Amino acid sequence: MEEVLSVHLAVAVALLLLLAAKRTPAVAVPSPQCQRQCGGVDIVFPFGIGDNCSLSAGFNVSCQEVQVQGGVVVYRPFLGNVELLNISLIHGTIRELNHISTYCYDSSSSSMELSTWCFDASETPFRFSDVQNKFTAIGCQTLAYIMDNTDKSYQSGCVSTCQSLSDLADGSCSGIGCCQTDIPKGMGFYNVSFDTGQISPSGLGRCSYAVLMEAAAFSFRTTYIDTTDFNDTSAGQVPVVMDWAIRDGPPSCELAKRNEETGSYAYACLSGNSECVDSPNGPGYLCNCSSGYEGNPYLPHGCHDVDECKNSPCPSGGVCHNTVGGYRCSCRVGRKLNERSNTCDPDTTLITGVTIGFLVLVILSSFGYMILQKTKLNQVKQEHFRQHGGMILFERMRSENGLAFTVFSEAELVKATDNYDKSKIIGKGGHGTVYKGIVKGNVPIAIKRCALVGERQKKEFGQEMLILSQINHKNIVKLEGCCLEVEVPMLVYEFVPNGTLYELIHGKDQASQTPFCTLLRIAHEAAEGLSFLHSYASPPIIHGDVKSANILLDGNYMAKVSDFGASVLAPSDKEQYVTMVQGTCGYLDPEYMQTCQLTEKSDVYSFGVVLLEILTGQEPLKLDGPETQRSLSSKFLSAMKENSLDAILPSHVNGQGSDELIRGLAELAKQCLDMCGSNRPSMKEVADELGRLRKLSLHPWVQIDADMIETQSLLSGTTAASFEIEVGTTELVADYAR
Ligand SMILES: *[C@@H]1O[C@H](CO)[C@@H](O)[C@H](O)[C@H]1NC(C)=O
Ligand SMILES: *[C@@H]1O[C@H](CO)[C@@H](O)[C@H](O)[C@H]1NC(C)=O
Ligand SMILES: *[C@@H]1O[C@H](CO)[C@@H](O)[C@H](O)[C@H]1NC(C)=O
Ligand SMILES: *[C@@H]1O[C@H](CO)[C@@H](O)[C@H](O)[C@H]1NC(C)=O
Ligand SMILES: *[C@@H]1O[C@H](CO)[C@@H](O)[C@H](O)[C@H]1NC(C)=O
Ligand SMILES: *[C@@H]1O[C@H](CO)[C@@H](O)[C@H](O)[C@H]1NC(C)=O
Repeated sequence: MEEVLSVHLAVAVALLLLLAAKRTPAVAVPSPQCQRQCGGVDIVFPFGIGDNCSLSAGFNVSCQEVQVQGGVVVYRPFLGNVELLNISLIHGTIRELNHISTYCYDSSSSSMELSTWCFDASETPFRFSDVQNKFTAIGCQTLAYIMDNTDKSYQSGCVSTCQSLSDLADGSCSGIGCCQTDIPKGMGFYNVSFDTGQISPSGLGRCSYAVLMEAAAFSFRTTYIDTTDFNDTSAGQVPVVMDWAIRDGPPSCELAKRNEETGSYAYACLSGNSECVDSPNGPGYLCNCSSGYEGNPYLPHGCHDVDECKNSPCPSGGVCHNTVGGYRCSCRVGRKLNERSNTCDPDTTLITGVTIGFLVLVILSSFGYMILQKTKLNQVKQEHFRQHGGMILFERMRSENGLAFTVFSEAELVKATDNYDKSKIIGKGGHGTVYKGIVKGNVPIAIKRCALVGERQKKEFGQEMLILSQINHKNIVKLEGCCLEVEVPMLVYEFVPNGTLYELIHGKDQASQTPFCTLLRIAHEAAEGLSFLHSYASPPIIHGDVKSANILLDGNYMAKVSDFGASVLAPSDKEQYVTMVQGTCGYLDPEYMQTCQLTEKSDVYSFGVVLLEILTGQEPLKLDGPETQRSLSSKFLSAMKENSLDAILPSHVNGQGSDELIRGLAELAKQCLDMCGSNRPSMKEVADELGRLRKLSLHPWVQIDADMIETQSLLSGTTAASFEIEVGTTELVADYAR
């Protein structure tokens, strides 16, 4: 155990010795106790004041007492015997005070006095900066030389002359009163000499001056010629810039690094993040912190990160982020950094991206909205369809094959009527509006949009539509179909082209001209239709609004009762009765008005009024007459009572119909208009009686003559009309087109 331990110990010691041996030429790290300031000048390493504080003897600064004006004693840093003004690590330069050399004529002793200065820095790390210094001479008959005869025997100089003070100009140093010349690289020594034969004692300017100095610190003034201002203002010393480097080792970075690897040389750039730079002036090298770092590269850990953001290098509106060895700029959302112009420009890709995204979203959402609306609409349609008993209707239509009944879609009807265009309206009434429409293959139809339908009716609508659709009688307008998708169902009827009985009786200029027997036929046909309606189903289908305007005329002037089924569509509960009066004024059954009970006999009453219209050619209600004369039915009944019927009959009726016919018709009308419903005849009886009366009217040929005369007069009219002359059971149909 102990053996192992001792072996380990020996190895460790050997390693330590090896390391120590390898690190022999170590760079001395200055003690933190070293004085780092003197006379306001920062003495940074590799410079140092005192023992073990500088990198080498060449950088040994001494802080000395000097006496300034007024006898005040201050401390100033000195390198050797020259005062140090400034140290720059980054540029590898220092500024020092250099002595001016003079050559003056002393009038008191009548002799020339020469005072030259010799600057020797050849054994130090310093070389005169060839970039920042110029050899400068001042005087009117001056030839000054600068010499370096240490190793390269360099000699140069400049000449300055002037005739009069007026030739001189402040700031100009180009041979008149002042001259300058550049120096080569690598100079560490110079001395000055004047061409002593040049100055004449009587000439302009008593002194000549020559000095190697910082060019930027010099500006020629004309007073420098005739006074001693140049020497006096600077107290005989002017700044000169020296380039320094680590010159006591290898002459270049490459060699320094190589030598360090071999362990033969201690490399001066101790800090990480530092780099080596070859000296720009003379042999040797410099250290510099890497880009993005600042500090002292000659000290361990001397280079530290630069907080670049302190100088706000980012464009306005941008945000600066300091990183190790650098920084990063970022711009606000919606802007992008333009590296070239260092500005925050609008980020077009982001803007277009966002815009496109937004547009896509809008399009998608409106698309979705449309689909939603469409589904909703379909749901509403289906709801209506279901409410209106469409399902029952479909069931029945399926079981009863070949039913001539169509369930129209809303769209079909909208198309057929040009979206319910006003020009398509062919009738308007209490129950709703009737439009003419054209469906598949030019089939004309009449579409009725009901005004209102009660809740109960809604439910049974489909069922009842089915009953109505099955009514197939030549004198009843055929119900072709319906539309249940809408809130209020629509009914579709066959289209009947030739107007109504009302128009035939009361219409302008043809009223009196329609043959009486034609009107009678129409009345008979209408009565047949109503009779069929009453007998068709149980409970009976009551028309509910019998009037001349609801007796339509087809192409052959045959009657077709329309708008039937009020019982079906009419509301049944009491509340609705109050608001919805069935029927039309003038035709209303007085009993119905009292009981609110619609019966077949109500239709009979109304039909009685239609008969009166045919008989008298008058309207059922005259609102402008005296009160007793307003209602046609009451006028008629009182006339019947007073046996003065002829008074209310128009002349043409008297001429056309036989007396017996008129009497029979009047009697029938009177029965129909009986106040008590049960006393009125049934519709079947009315139809039968009308049939009998028609046959009665047809006296053989005598009557025809009269009709022929009538026909002649019709020939000069303007409307196409057809009527017939009936002989016994034979019908002669004559069509006239004028
Ligand atoms: C300077 O360093 C040397 C050895 O490195 C040492 O002997 C000497 O005492 C030091 N001088 C001072 C003033 O610290
Ligand atoms: C530095 O300069 C001072 C004063 O001039 C001197 O005493 C000292 O010995 C010098 N040190 C070195 C290392 O040259
Ligand atoms: C050092 O140099 C800078 C400019 O490079 C100057 O502003 C400063 O005054 C100088 N300091 C001294 C003590 O000369
Ligand atoms: C050191 O680096 C700085 C900035 O990186 C540069 O301005 C300077 O000239 C460099 N110094 C030398 C001696 O190359
Ligand atoms: C300075 O210059 C003179 C010539 O004027 C020369 O003889 C002398 O050797 C120089 N001094 C030194 C130290 O080189
Ligand atoms: C230049 O100035 C210095 C310091 O003030 C002085 O000692 C020297 O005599 C002056 N020389 C001339 C020629 O004025």
